[in-house]
Amino acid sequence: MSAAQLLAWISVALLLQLSTGIAWTLWRRSTARAAGEGAMPAPHARADAAWSGWREFRVSRREYEDPACTQCSFYLQPVDAQPLPAFKPGQFLTFSLDLPGGLRTITRCYSLSDRPEPTHYRVTIKRVPPPTDHPEFESGLSSNHFHDRVQVGDLLRVKAPSGHFFIDPDAAVPAVLIAGGIGVTPMISMLRWSLVHQPQRVLHFYYGMRNGREHAFKPQLEALAAAHPLLRLHVAYSRPDASDREGLDFQHKGHVDVELLRRTLPHGRHQFYVCGPPAMMQTLVPALAEWGVPLTDLHYEAFGPASIRQPGSNDAVEAAVAVEVQFRRSGRTLAWDGRDASLLDFAERHGIAVESGCRSGGCGSCETRVLEGSVQYEHTPDHDLAPGHCLLCVGRPASALVLEA
Ligand code: FES
Repeated sequence: MSAAQLLAWISVALLLQLSTGIAWTLWRRSTARAAGEGAMPAPHARADAAWSGWREFRVSRREYEDPACTQCSFYLQPVDAQPLPAFKPGQFLTFSLDLPGGLRTITRCYSLSDRPEPTHYRVTIKRVPPPTDHPEFESGLSSNHFHDRVQVGDLLRVKAPSGHFFIDPDAAVPAVLIAGGIGVTPMISMLRWSLVHQPQRVLHFYYGMRNGREHAFKPQLEALAAAHPLLRLHVAYSRPDASDREGLDFQHKGHVDVELLRRTLPHGRHQFYVCGPPAMMQTLVPALAEWGVPLTDLHYEAFGPASIRQPGSNDAVEAAVAVEVQFRRSGRTLAWDGRDASLLDFAERHGIAVESGCRSGGCGSCETRVLEGSVQYEHTPDHDLAPGHCLLCVGRPASALVLEA
């Protein structure tokens, strides 16, 4: 064989080896993507802007956070494998869920329960039993769907993080994070973010629940408190079990209230962040305002803040608005008397079923057309409204109304 022939054979062999390698790599990537593997953005990557509309996520992990197994975390990775935008700790995700049978789609919102990561999001959802006396409100429909049907590998449609309830990233004064029950989820997000990004900030974390069976994130919180001397952890059980140990599992017996804060917080200015069930919020938020916490230092979210009367709101103005509200599709005309915090509460109290999600003006689920009259808001809602539409969850009548709902 001549030298030229030998060179030609070597070149052919090299080319064959190269093309085989390329084909193998491409095949590996396509199969990994089809299986949902490898679809994870690089941990250091970060998207600058949120996406618009729905984006597909795959459930990569699920994990119970409390001994009673009623609070489950779902870890979500974007199917498109692109890095996730950061969110403001305290914000929520909006989900579009197809209920079994394909007959119905519902929209629901859940707080993000971890600090922002470019590779995944985490939400933690509490199973809510449906109320027996008001089945039309469909309480628990979504949380039971998550707990019973959403498994690792499943796909979910998700809107970008949103919401006005988040920790002030520039504040230096000590923060008081107060959580009741599943209201702990945005607080965990704020706490984990703050420990990394505001390491010099003093944090007081108050967490109330009935007993140890409902105590979510217990090992994680205790580990964080042990590792961070500026974090003060106060756990309150209102109805401890016989096996719950005061001083070990919890520090205070009773509810998280102003009396407890008075006893345990040092003097000085603090920023308060509060999230819990309506019963807690309806007493604690006004009590904090009464205690002298300025409204600029009082931030809260109650599985819709629409259900809390804003401290300092002008009752005289509300009482003056006594008007008729017609729900055209439902065929009902009712007298608004200012008793309800929002048109959504008003509709539900009268048994009118309307779609809702966040109950805080962020997701648009309760948007409906205003056929006559006008609607007022205490704060400008997060959600961008279509012209001639309103949000029932944060809106109140400014005049007599005819709504499409
Ligand atoms: S329920 Fe989300 S905007 Fe009204």
